Amino acid sequence: CGIVGYIGFRDAYPIIIKGLHRLEYRGYDSAGIALAEKGLKVYKKAGKVSDLEDFVKGITFTATAGMGHTRWATHGPPSDRNSHPHSSGDRKLTIIHNGIIENYGVIKEALLAKGHVFKSDTDTEVLIHLVEDIQKSTGLDLNEAVRLALNRVVGAYAIVVMSADRPDELIAARKGSPMVIGVGKGEYLIASDATPIVEYTKNVIYLNDNEIAYIKRDDLLIKNIDNTVQTPYIQELSLKLEMLEKGGYDHFMMKEIYEQPRSIRDCLRGRIYPGRGEVQLGGIKEYADKLRNVDRIIIVACGTSWHAGLVGEYLIEEFARVPVEVEYASEFRYRNPIITSKDLVIAISQSGETADTMAAIELAKERGATIFGICNVVGASIPRLTHAGVYTHAGPEIGVASTKAFTAQVSVLTLMAFYIAQQRGTITRNKSVEYLTELNEIPDLVERALKANDQVIAIAERFKDSPNCLFLGRGSSFPVALEGALKLKEISYIHAEGYPAAEMKHGPIALIDADMPVIFIATKNSSYEKVVSNIQEVKARGGHVIAIVSEGDTDVKEMAEYVIEIPQTSETFVPLLATIPLQLLAYHIAVMRGCNVDQPRNLAKSVTVE
Ligand code: G6P
Repeated sequence: CGIVGYIGFRDAYPIIIKGLHRLEYRGYDSAGIALAEKGLKVYKKAGKVSDLEDFVKGITFTATAGMGHTRWATHGPPSDRNSHPHSSGDRKLTIIHNGIIENYGVIKEALLAKGHVFKSDTDTEVLIHLVEDIQKSTGLDLNEAVRLALNRVVGAYAIVVMSADRPDELIAARKGSPMVIGVGKGEYLIASDATPIVEYTKNVIYLNDNEIAYIKRDDLLIKNIDNTVQTPYIQELSLKLEMLEKGGYDHFMMKEIYEQPRSIRDCLRGRIYPGRGEVQLGGIKEYADKLRNVDRIIIVACGTSWHAGLVGEYLIEEFARVPVEVEYASEFRYRNPIITSKDLVIAISQSGETADTMAAIELAKERGATIFGICNVVGASIPRLTHAGVYTHAGPEIGVASTKAFTAQVSVLTLMAFYIAQQRGTITRNKSVEYLTELNEIPDLVERALKANDQVIAIAERFKDSPNCLFLGRGSSFPVALEGALKLKEISYIHAEGYPAAEMKHGPIALIDADMPVIFIATKNSSYEKVVSNIQEVKARGGHVIAIVSEGDTDVKEMAEYVIEIPQTSETFVPLLATIPLQLLAYHIAVMRGCNVDQPRNLAKSVTVE
């Protein structure tokens, strides 16, 4: 979910609505606002932020303080009544919340016994009733009541509370869910990330876990949940407004696909020295010794970041010769994993705030492992939780389907593989020079790979109505196949599966018929001949073959119904290029099917619940 708050001298409503649009990537199944308008006025609606705007059309607002929420449902289906803000029984207090109150059931029972009546199915409403209950039963002031209530809840939250009796104040708090406070002159903004803030001020405070901020127009007090006053640390944002706009593209996703030559270049900049055959990663250099002695690397991540991790496994094992395991963060933490202080855990996360990944990090940390992060969002929770790390520098990714973040993650993992190899002496200088020279060219090759767009449009046109689709690859192209399938299913709702090409004969081959497009990553590499045989097997069963091939390929061209060429490169770098046409394919098919590409149904870009 996304939350925004404003208090100052400007009209609050337009600031909050604009902020909610920026945060819509975090969830978009319902939205609501509360404004300090003759006490407090609350408006909420199932649907997108634009539905909320339609709902309040014609009302003139004059409030200069308020807050808004855009939701990704956890407790209770998306509906008007489950939308935030939620209010106390006497309607005087209202709250917006991102996260989950895990012990809401017991609290709710106790409150029900005391006569509280609830209007929604949410955990959030329970929290605001708890605040009201504490306030009424103890006679304490609101600040204290919020603090005491937060001491009673288990779970994760970022909240903002407003009171009809104190319309000139916002109370914000966080634990486990992100919250940024923008510090202006005579105004403050609060948001889940910095994007709603950047237009008004560049000065921000990242609230820490267990901190509560009491905010008035010209006063900010931050306390810890145990009541100790904290000194806020004001930082300057490097985010630029144009990064948050579509820049002439129809969708953020397309803009982000086309940004990849630039984002990969930014990721490599200052980190590779091809002439010397050297990689430098400032973020992890203090751990060079550790890398020499590490026994095992465990990569934890979710979704697309997990796919990047799988590519990383091939790269690190190949060059640094350290065993690597790649795990879904959510599975890792619940199976009592064996971790020692000799392990290195690499957590990959675009947003840097995925709850499952954070929980996996905490577990590994408790057991003594060293943790590196690979994140895109600077200053997010994961980079703060890890011992060291490397940012991907892809710039803000707004399309819910991850594109440029993936190739940037793979780029960082490539750098890490060479860096670790360098420390361990598992690669010669000559080999390093050779590979890094090639890596340096990758942004240009990605640019060339994007030229396949028109070809991809023709393929999309032909297969847009297929009910199923299979993606096959071998070696490090197998995770690329997984990612291609994920992209397609996420945004076009076509059922798609990725498989190792050779495994196809052990199951998925049964699905192949004249309605089944099969996309092969069949670039010239060590398993090329084998992939060619797999293509024959599909053809023999009447399947449609679409192949991604290396420029100049002739063999596969004769066999496949469609081919898409990508520039020649060594096997190591194929994932960075082969991903491009798959992103384009998913994009065009989704657009042709009339899907909402940037905000696919049921998904959210950053999932801050476990
Ligand atoms: C969500 C997003 C995916 C993303 C995954 C992990 O499911 O929709 O695109 O890959 O979370 O997110 P992270 O920010 O940790 O990379």
